[in-house]
Amino acid sequence: GVTSKGGYRHFMLKEIHEQSQVIAATLEGRLGDHQVLVNSFGTDAEQLFRGVRQVHIIACGTSYHAGMVARYWIEKLAGVPTQVEVASEYRYREVVVPEGTLFVTLSQSGETADTLAALRFAKQRDYRGSLAICNVPGSSLVRESDLTLMTQAGPEIGVASTKAFTTQLVALMLLALALGRVRGANGEHAPIVQGLRELPGVINQVLALDGEVERLSMAFAEKHHALFLGRGAHFPIAQEGALKLKEISYIHAEAYPAGELKHGPLALVDSEMPVIAVAPNDELLEKLKSNLQEVRARGGELFVFADESIRMETSAHLHVLRVPAVSDALAPIVYTIPLQLLAYHVAVLKGTDVDQPRNLAKSVTVE
Ligand code: G6P
Repeated sequence: GVTSKGGYRHFMLKEIHEQSQVIAATLEGRLGDHQVLVNSFGTDAEQLFRGVRQVHIIACGTSYHAGMVARYWIEKLAGVPTQVEVASEYRYREVVVPEGTLFVTLSQSGETADTLAALRFAKQRDYRGSLAICNVPGSSLVRESDLTLMTQAGPEIGVASTKAFTTQLVALMLLALALGRVRGANGEHAPIVQGLRELPGVINQVLALDGEVERLSMAFAEKHHALFLGRGAHFPIAQEGALKLKEISYIHAEAYPAGELKHGPLALVDSEMPVIAVAPNDELLEKLKSNLQEVRARGGELFVFADESIRMETSAHLHVLRVPAVSDALAPIVYTIPLQLLAYHVAVLKGTDVDQPRNLAKSVTVE
């Protein structure tokens, strides 16, 4: 059944391995031949989306990181200005709401107190409408929003969110494509639609890296700090990787957009501070490589999750893990997975309570 570990040692590991299947379920019935089906967001979605000039995305925790990725996607694929904010900040400030702003909440549970309060706050303001991307049917967020798109992650038991996050990313890519479509994108996003169809297969290939990631994890068990680097839409993926490591292994971790390295964190780099970088083969690769050189020159130990086509070999103080080639647009979803596996294996080595980390709750329903 859904609430058994199904032979896995922890729910988290089971949920990581379910990602191919739940991503396929989240896409089911929502793609046409070359385009996203806009009515996946509700029968009124097309009409509502047509008037959207701006997007505000509100969430907490891991869901917030999904929103951060979506900002890169929506601005690139739909040309719609997008802001992302944590709910606990948004709900207590004076927010300017330009005409035609769509209010989007992201939540696994649909019951996070701050996110729900943010929605209620937004309903008092002049938004174009509200959309909830959520994993729990009938939750408060779903009931109170104008439009909903359900992720199909199924029950997530591990406190550290994994499959809920990647299905949120898939849902947000559908949103970016839908907003692009109503704004006149015509066919140019067909390769992304095709990429989405192939995504479950790619995810399975990445999951096969489990053993390799487990071997890398041994270098982290004795460390007290770690730095995660990414650029572009992979900066929030680095943030999510750092959050996973913090949550379950209790190792202090933070993420930086790699271009900011020399504005501070480089001062911390030495052999005791592993640096993890996400290196898809995109237009920012050369920039990232020179950032990594800066780390090596300071005696840092580098762990790079890199596209298999990149020329970069494991050598002294540089560990390269090859990730299957994937299109730029969908790479953030794929690169999430080795970072989840890394956090998981480090936590297992450290002997923490992986599924129920100390002091944390699955759903924060009080402020
Ligand atoms: C808690 C959980 C996180 C989750 C966050 C937001 O902090 O431990 O895993 O990302 O709440 O939850 P939501 O249900 O709104 O996505």
